Amino acid sequence: MITAALRQNVTATWGEEGARWLERLPETLSEISALWDLVPGEPFDLSYHYVAPATLADGTPAVLKLGVPSAGSLAEEAPALTAFAGRGAVRLLRADLPRGALLLERALPGRRARDVPEPAATSAAVAVMRVLHVPSPPVLPDVLVQARAFDAYLARFPDADGPLPHAHVTTAAGLMRELCASSPSRVLLHGDLHHDNILEASRSPWLAIDPHGLTGDPAYEIGSWLFNPTPANRDPSLTALVPSRLEQFAAELGYPLERLVAWGFVKSVLSDVWTAESWVRGATWSPVSRAHDVASLLLAQLP
Ligand SMILES: Nc1ncnc2c1ncn2[C@@H]1O[C@H](COP(=O)(O)OP(=O)(O)O)[C@@H](O)[C@H]1O
Ligand SMILES: [Mg+2]
Repeated sequence: MITAALRQNVTATWGEEGARWLERLPETLSEISALWDLVPGEPFDLSYHYVAPATLADGTPAVLKLGVPSAGSLAEEAPALTAFAGRGAVRLLRADLPRGALLLERALPGRRARDVPEPAATSAAVAVMRVLHVPSPPVLPDVLVQARAFDAYLARFPDADGPLPHAHVTTAAGLMRELCASSPSRVLLHGDLHHDNILEASRSPWLAIDPHGLTGDPAYEIGSWLFNPTPANRDPSLTALVPSRLEQFAAELGYPLERLVAWGFVKSVLSDVWTAESWVRGATWSPVSRAHDVASLLLAQLP
């Protein structure tokens, strides 16, 4: 039941604690299935959590999501889903955070936005963003906490000897702080809105899953869209979609284009900075994702 990708991601991210969680996973699964009286099915493609369709005792289709209890992100996902209250996102049916378990409404048919051509895919993101951005519960952190990743990178590589273009990181660090200080409003953000986290549903055309739960400028939300789906694919024709996506977001959401460009740049560099955290000095580095290409494209458009 534990795939190689799940083992790799969980141990790389949460170390010993992740390994212990993997070890106990079969037991946790049967414990929670008995507690919530559900029958789990074959898991979906696994990356950082164990996620499987499940059927409740009364036949209701649901989804069970299990994660590392203390270190993982379920503690933010649960309050974010509660605050969304089913508007633009799947409903949270039950939560047991000490066990690291969430029970979610199942999106059916569940087709992912990645399987929809542009511009319909970007319109799906717009539809979800329009309703998701409600007042944020106080427990959810400000997006500004993420700027610490830039500071940590620059403290580690003060002499431009790191794997990323130094100007990308210094520019993104300053720009993120300016964008946060000048936010026109602060709302509940999904925080990781990309093509695999928006699913086709029946009670609403599209529903988001897997929120990270942050508070901040609504325009922050478009950032991860620009280097997705398939962020490892550096085909230039995918990077070439960025200008039309940005124009579509600006037209359909009414946000200023320059703030969308700036957030797109910041979030792309942030993604690379997170990847670079596991880079060891001396190892070869080549840009590993399209985020680098998107950042380079957008840097030239910053005022
Ligand atoms: N509520 C849901 N309804 C239908 N499918 C879901 C649901 N939640 C998750 N999935 C499927 O499981 C996959 C992984 O779930 P996700 O919550 O995104 O996990 P991770 O945090 O590991 O990315 C999704 O890409 C989707 O295919
Ligand atoms: Mg996901």
